Amino acid sequence: MIAQELDLAGLRRVYGRAGSRLFYTRVARNARHWGWTEPGQSKWRLWRAQRQLEDVLGRRLALPPGAEVLDAGAGAGVVARAMAVRFGLAVTGVDVLDFHVDEANRLSARAGLSDRTTFSWGDYHRLPFRDDTFDGAYSMETLVHSYDPPRALAELHRVLRPGGRLVLLGPMSTVPLDEMTPDARALLEPYLDAMVMTGAKVYHARNLPHLLAEAGFAVEEALDATPYYTPTTEAVHAYFRLPWAVLRRFGDPARWLNLRSTVEMYAVREYVAWYVHTAVKPDAVRPDAVTPAAVEPPR
Ligand SMILES: C[S@@+](CC[C@H](N)C(=O)[O-])C[C@H]1O[C@@H](n2cnc3c(N)ncnc32)[C@H](O)[C@@H]1O
Repeated sequence: MIAQELDLAGLRRVYGRAGSRLFYTRVARNARHWGWTEPGQSKWRLWRAQRQLEDVLGRRLALPPGAEVLDAGAGAGVVARAMAVRFGLAVTGVDVLDFHVDEANRLSARAGLSDRTTFSWGDYHRLPFRDDTFDGAYSMETLVHSYDPPRALAELHRVLRPGGRLVLLGPMSTVPLDEMTPDARALLEPYLDAMVMTGAKVYHARNLPHLLAEAGFAVEEALDATPYYTPTTEAVHAYFRLPWAVLRRFGDPARWLNLRSTVEMYAVREYVAWYVHTAVKPDAVRPDAVTPAAVEPPR
């Protein structure tokens, strides 16, 4: 059973520990997301892959310059600034970690982007915005933390204007936990708990389109993008396997939760898929929109 409330202490543990902050600020240059590598490109260029993933999002949002967009779970605002600079969007970001909100505002001020990217404290299950506020919304690798995915999707639907577009990017299991081999589940589940990935216990590749439809969205696309993410998975595993082995032996493993999961989750990678879901809040349902039933059979 999943606690249907915000686990702020857990999220602080995941993102606030010195090891995590060092990793995200120094190594990932403030981005807290994976990368997108095209066929034929080198997997080792992680920063390029991260920029390409942001571009995938911007192209899926497909909104005109000046459109107002919500970033649900903005982290340090790297994605929001990419949307502002490369796609001309006006982005409002929310996050439940005060130190992420502060960092996002500080980095935007430093980049001269405070007029086009603003960040405040907010939980995407109870958004502090009126109905029909945004032309678009996205979640870059954050829905996985949701303590109540149907409620989060309903909130995102509420704050979008009719015709507004939603893009969800992130990892999920290919099948429900109870359909995994006992060994795979025994490896994966403790990580989901430790990383507060409560959403990943509710939705998976098969049922997310249906949850979107139940929230009132028309699903345009449910793209299994795993092949584009796999090079990043492989490179990150190769880069961090050795540091993790050293830290595990000589340090306190609990302080390096993110590093640990990055390395050890590799063993269950065949059960992890990376998806890009694009959906629209009707009334502007496109005639070629894919109905959830056409995407995957319901479970
Ligand atoms: C993996 S990070 C991604 C951050 C950012 N989207 C990026 O790509 O750099 C997940 C973020 O979601 C935030 N988050 C988790 N649960 C949230 C919630 N209920 N409402 C808003 N933000 C949340 C976390 O604090 C964290 O900053």
